[in-house]
Amino acid sequence: MRILFASSEIHPLMKTGGLADVSASLPVALKRLRHDIRLLMPAYPQALARAGKLESMATVTLPGFPDDPVTLLSGMLPGTRVPLLLADAPRCFQRAGDPYRAMDGQDWQDNHLRFGLFARLIEHLSLERTPLGWRPEVVHCHDWQTGLAPVMLGMHETRPVTAFTIHNLAYQGLFPRHAFDALNLPPELWHYQGLEFHGQMSFIKGGIAYADHVTTVSPTYAREIRTQQLGNGLDGLLNHRAESLTGILNGVDYKEWDPGRDRHIAANYGPEDFSGKALCKTDLQDHFKLRGTSGVPLLGHVGRMVPQKGVDLLLRAAEPLLAAGEAQLVVVGTGSSALEQAARRLAERHPGRVGVHIGYDEGLAHRVEAGADIFVMPSRFEPCGLNQMYSLRYGTVPVVRRTGGLADTVVDADPAGLKAGDATGICFDAALPEALTDALTRALALYHQPDLWRRLVRTAMAQDFSWARSAEAYATLYRDLVAARVPPGKP
Ligand code: ADP
Ligand code: GLC
Repeated sequence: MRILFASSEIHPLMKTGGLADVSASLPVALKRLRHDIRLLMPAYPQALARAGKLESMATVTLPGFPDDPVTLLSGMLPGTRVPLLLADAPRCFQRAGDPYRAMDGQDWQDNHLRFGLFARLIEHLSLERTPLGWRPEVVHCHDWQTGLAPVMLGMHETRPVTAFTIHNLAYQGLFPRHAFDALNLPPELWHYQGLEFHGQMSFIKGGIAYADHVTTVSPTYAREIRTQQLGNGLDGLLNHRAESLTGILNGVDYKEWDPGRDRHIAANYGPEDFSGKALCKTDLQDHFKLRGTSGVPLLGHVGRMVPQKGVDLLLRAAEPLLAAGEAQLVVVGTGSSALEQAARRLAERHPGRVGVHIGYDEGLAHRVEAGADIFVMPSRFEPCGLNQMYSLRYGTVPVVRRTGGLADTVVDADPAGLKAGDATGICFDAALPEALTDALTRALALYHQPDLWRRLVRTAMAQDFSWARSAEAYATLYRDLVAARVPPGKP
């Protein structure tokens, strides 16, 4: 099938979170299934710098954007054979800062125009007059940044089928009414069943309401977003679309995330020989100047420092264990300054026992996965989560809150799980520091029973979350959508 895969982030060109990992590794898996897939993303400066050789293909001027011609730059996603198109609209995308915010942390004021333009481009490349000489049968869009594309495509009789994937319903692309006016969209779309959301314009609602099919990144999250608790005000619409909403678990790119061949870590290792893992732990302790106390487990956490990830719960839950000298902790992340400060303060209170790196550091993320004994993800909600799956492969036992993809990927080491031999981590329920302290205490107790621990680690490492199965699920979905679409004029 011919698939146009449009995303605002693709690793290693631009990444602020897991969306980038998925937008890089799912297309490779689809390519392996022999689909003709092409990637489209905005030409951010980082992407231009990292993309390697690019050729200019065509320049298009899109309706509504006379002053922002878009040059299509064609190349390959680095390290793969997946064709890549970068949308070069310098005024919109060549800016310092991240894709959504200026250096001062404020959202760009014209995000609706920037991603409105991106959606128009997706539409343009999908129709008869496409300059590519290639027309997709399927357009697969991701998150709010692409939410308007299914809306625009829906207005054409002859068009490819559209799939829209929700990676995180908490980021909706909400804008004031004037944004809707500025985008020159048909006025009838300003409706509670259209793009209007409590008086604002919602990009993600466009994707959810108008795509032929909606997916999200784990089966449990697909159910959770249909509840008031995690529906972010869109549970009504998501229930309305229940027949066309499925959860497909993300996979892991084991080429990037495998302790047997990871280039970032101090020593490689596998399930048969853990000596390398011990070296990785020493390396991580040295890096953070932690006192090397043998027999004390090292807890690790990597993630965006936002309320979603529950790092505040971790900082509080770890305190008694750190004070008692029962554990050490390493935290890598960046985000809200309050959470960053709280992490720094914890490190000050427990010198030699806590290491904190505020910032984004891909290599360090790998070293934490390899060097920690226990990886902690106390997320308040988690559409899928990748780090717990990485942890499993690195034999770093995950302690997770039972939500979203965390619930779908970690089997609790309760008595039943231990007896059956399928336990891979520790799960807990309440989003409270005490509940996490209990879970960590359970993890530490297991850690001090070497036979049990070794079994837990081996079972964790044997889990296979490679993309093959999930890519098949997407391919089947695409095929079903194409088959179900009745060509215009036919009954
Ligand atoms: P989300 O997309 O919600 O941030 P995921 O678990 O799906 O969560 O993916 C997060 C990805 O971003 C992982 O690959 C993780 O290692 C990476 N990551 C997050 N914060 C950092 C950081 N500060 N430094 C390096 N990598 C990070
Ligand atoms: C989002 C989610 C995360 C998921 C990632 C990739 O950013 O927060 O849980 O793993 O997208 O789908």
